Amino acid sequence: MTIDRYPPINPRFPHMLHGGDYNPDQWPETVWDEDMRLMKLAHCNTMTVAIFAWTKLEPAEGQFEFGWLDRVMDLLADNGGYAVLATPSGARPAWLAAKYPEVLRVRPDRGRNLFGVRHNHCFTSPVYREKTALINGKLAERYANHPALLAWHLSNEYNGECHCELCRAAFRTWVKTKYGTLDALNHAWWTGFWSHTVTDWAQIDPPSPIGETSVHGLNLDWKRFVTDQTTDFMQVEITSLRQFTPDVPITTNMMGTFPGLNYWRMAPHLDVISWDSYPMWHKGDDVALASDIAFVHDINRCLKGGKPFMLMESVPSATNWVPAAKVKRPGMHALSSLQAVAHGSDTVQYFQWRKSRGSAEKFHGAVVDHVGHEGTRVFGEVADLGRMLERLDPVVGTTVRPDVAIVYDWENNWAMTDAQGPRRGDKGYLDDCKRHYRAFWKRGIPVDVIDMEQDFSSYKLLIAPMLYMVRPGVAERIEAFVKAGGVFVATYLSGIVDENDLCFLGGWPGPLRETLGIWAEEIDALYEHDANAVLPAAGNGLGLNGEYVAREFCDLIHAKTATVLATYGADFYAGRPALTVNELGKGRAYYIASRNDERFLDDFYAALGGQLNLLCALNAELPSGISAQLRSDGKRRFVFLMNFNPEPATLDLGSASVTDLLTGTTVQGQTELSGYGVAVLAA
Ligand code: GLA
Ligand code: ZN
Repeated sequence: MTIDRYPPINPRFPHMLHGGDYNPDQWPETVWDEDMRLMKLAHCNTMTVAIFAWTKLEPAEGQFEFGWLDRVMDLLADNGGYAVLATPSGARPAWLAAKYPEVLRVRPDRGRNLFGVRHNHCFTSPVYREKTALINGKLAERYANHPALLAWHLSNEYNGECHCELCRAAFRTWVKTKYGTLDALNHAWWTGFWSHTVTDWAQIDPPSPIGETSVHGLNLDWKRFVTDQTTDFMQVEITSLRQFTPDVPITTNMMGTFPGLNYWRMAPHLDVISWDSYPMWHKGDDVALASDIAFVHDINRCLKGGKPFMLMESVPSATNWVPAAKVKRPGMHALSSLQAVAHGSDTVQYFQWRKSRGSAEKFHGAVVDHVGHEGTRVFGEVADLGRMLERLDPVVGTTVRPDVAIVYDWENNWAMTDAQGPRRGDKGYLDDCKRHYRAFWKRGIPVDVIDMEQDFSSYKLLIAPMLYMVRPGVAERIEAFVKAGGVFVATYLSGIVDENDLCFLGGWPGPLRETLGIWAEEIDALYEHDANAVLPAAGNGLGLNGEYVAREFCDLIHAKTATVLATYGADFYAGRPALTVNELGKGRAYYIASRNDERFLDDFYAALGGQLNLLCALNAELPSGISAQLRSDGKRRFVFLMNFNPEPATLDLGSASVTDLLTGTTVQGQTELSGYGVAVLAA
């Protein structure tokens, strides 16, 4: 597939953005000049301003004070810097909450919160929407043509739900629009169960610990509503800005795999995706963690079809909300920051620029510490990274078009987590997706991470672990993908429920039965201490060998049109199929019936990777802990090599000499990467 270079986030600044959340509103003006001096020393070029500055901007209702922000914006522009300007809706002023209590959030137990903390507002309240739109519009009008304005940052980490009367009424309207009739609603929610039949729309209420929790269709629809209502609020924010600044890109900072909002529904309304990444480095296995974070970076790249995203927040040193604020070891800062760039970020930004003097985040890592000067280890590492980013202009706007996609789907996660069986609570869906992903990460094979609504046709290999929910049209698109020559991989616990969480009748995996050529009759959920074995059949065609270990889930399946490639080794289902493949049209579909060990996934995907000639960042054997990722514009290739081990590692780069953009040096053949080292090879 051809790759075009995307335009920079804002064509006015065709470079990597480097900077952080900046709160001059919390500091005396005497500090601001020093901030500008330090900003240049740190090789930072962008500050995210005014995120929580509503009271400073509007100290009393209708009384606006922009003078201080004028000076901040001017200072930035005068010093060659730019602003990602935030809308202040993430935290409201006390006067607003006091005068209009409806803006305060109501909990699921129906009690209304007091004023306090942040993100404590109702997304439906007409007053909150009006006040937000008003101040947003004033900001946009005032700074529309300011030379510092680079992008808009909507609110902050939208999250949470509200159970006030306004929200409950909005939910009823949403439900009515979706189902039209009570009969349709009662069928979808299977309300005959425990006599929950709805006989009047007015009886509908959100799930609550003091009320309904057992109607799974309701639980699912409430989560969908929360996403839609948050998106609706976000659109109010967007409209209020666009009228004055139609060309300034708009983003909002997301939170990775945060389960509270389906980001795929929000993404189409944004110009650029951004997210806040806080991995707990040096806690356990950093190599596994690096792969897991890579998975989330890839979601963010995929949310807008491969368009570069923004690493809106990360920490220069230690986060303060983790159990132990372990500081990043020397080198980890550049490594973890450039990892985001390797996966498609065109920015490295921090929470925060200057460490807060008081309140809840006074010990959160920052570029400028309480000591106030540039002579700290952390400041030095930030400045070093800034210099590296300045060398990456050619990478801006590039992306990757992988041959592999893994489906990680929010609604599927919601439904599966809610299900009381075959294991309680978290079924390990996200972990499973990450485990399949890791088999490719280790080999430097780029992967897209998408939800089930996306187009599959550009991929050679489509993997959908635990596709418990299959929404309308998805099975048909998978079948078409396989018939056209694609390779599809499904696992246990697939094709169980429809979009309303109603079980498919007629046998699992529901609408995927024909494509996979199997019938899954029972699911055996194992206790922690249980295990089974998976024994590859002779001549399985994948080079699988020895005995693999199966834990937690074992589907008991019948091969209908599929061929059996491995069988269970123990229990009453010993000898029954554990791995099958079904030929269909020009492609084939595998079913992995049990949750197998890492060695199985490694062997299985190594075989498929070899057969399918998958796009790879680097044609070299990667030592453990080395990640290779690719960005390209279709002409030039940029290979990011990253060593997540503290020790140096050596790998063979082949005979052609390539330039490491970070150092400007030429490398070839046996090449050493230092502990936590990074190279960006340009060809
Ligand atoms: C979140 C918020 C920031 C800050 C950081 C601290 O990401 O968006 O305002 O609180 O956490 O890690
Ligand atoms: Zn509300």
